[in-house]
Amino acid sequence: MLTGKNCMITGARTGIGRATTELFAKNGAVIWACASKYNEEFEEDMKELSQKYNTQIHISYFDLRAEEEVKEAVKKIISESSKRIDILINNAGVPFGAFLQMTSMTALHQVFQINFFSQMLITQMISKIMMKNKYGVIVNLSSVAGLDGEPGYTAYGSSKAAVAFATKTISRELADYHIRVNAVAPGLIQTNMTTVMEESAKEKMIHGASLKRAGTSKEVAELILFLASEESSFINGQVIRIDGGLG
Ligand SMILES: NC(=O)c1ccc[n+]([C@@H]2O[C@H](COP(=O)([O-])OP(=O)(O)OC[C@H]3O[C@@H](n4cnc5c(N)ncnc54)[C@H](OP(=O)(O)O)[C@@H]3O)[C@@H](O)[C@H]2O)c1
Repeated sequence: MLTGKNCMITGARTGIGRATTELFAKNGAVIWACASKYNEEFEEDMKELSQKYNTQIHISYFDLRAEEEVKEAVKKIISESSKRIDILINNAGVPFGAFLQMTSMTALHQVFQINFFSQMLITQMISKIMMKNKYGVIVNLSSVAGLDGEPGYTAYGSSKAAVAFATKTISRELADYHIRVNAVAPGLIQTNMTTVMEESAKEKMIHGASLKRAGTSKEVAELILFLASEESSFINGQVIRIDGGLG
């Protein structure tokens, strides 16, 4: 489904990003897999995926907390791809759970820096290239936490609500350039991120979902693949829930 497409995926080392990277490789994409810092196991893992699916996987390291680092890394990706990134998956993110009264302004800024500001910076830089090429697809990772307003999610949920809103507005700004922008909003998915959640909060989400279970990274990756591919060519500006029937 993605043969010949150049794709950049953030947060590719673990969870949903890792599953997306494998599915994209399986579907013939050339990938720039991004992680926060050098990791030997990640290097090995990407090498294996690239051999298994006979496609190129380039690795890029940058910390989303450091704007200059992000800029330099994205510039390098743009140059390595001969100025053609067709698909951008803004997947990296951090969790944060606390009532507002327990949320320091430093924490709030940091969650937004990673989950929103840096992703907007990457989107700005990559979409300029897409605009020149008159083609592109962007898929952002929002969350049901950014749509439903549960207690304890002021920082994380607001950052994901910002992602959802930006998805809608940017999709309208870029449509004339044949660039589609959509978001996925997962419910509870079994990844490193949810290991830090309290058991009671996870149970609540599982019981609230009509399918009565957590989702897998692969299930989310399948939706991301669909949105990144031409199979979804008439879908734009949408925030699509994948939550086992929570909403
Ligand atoms: N799991 C869920 O239930 C759920 C639900 C809704 C939405 N989401 C969203 O889905 C996305 C993927 O999360 P996941 O569940 O797959 O969790 P995960 O396994 O913890 O993955 C998060 C990824 O984000 C990257 N990351 C975090 N901080 C970073 C930083 N400062 N700089 C660069 N990269 C950074 C990490 O990269 P490194 O490993 O290289 O540090 C990691 O690979 C996130 O945006 C998350 O908010 C998840």
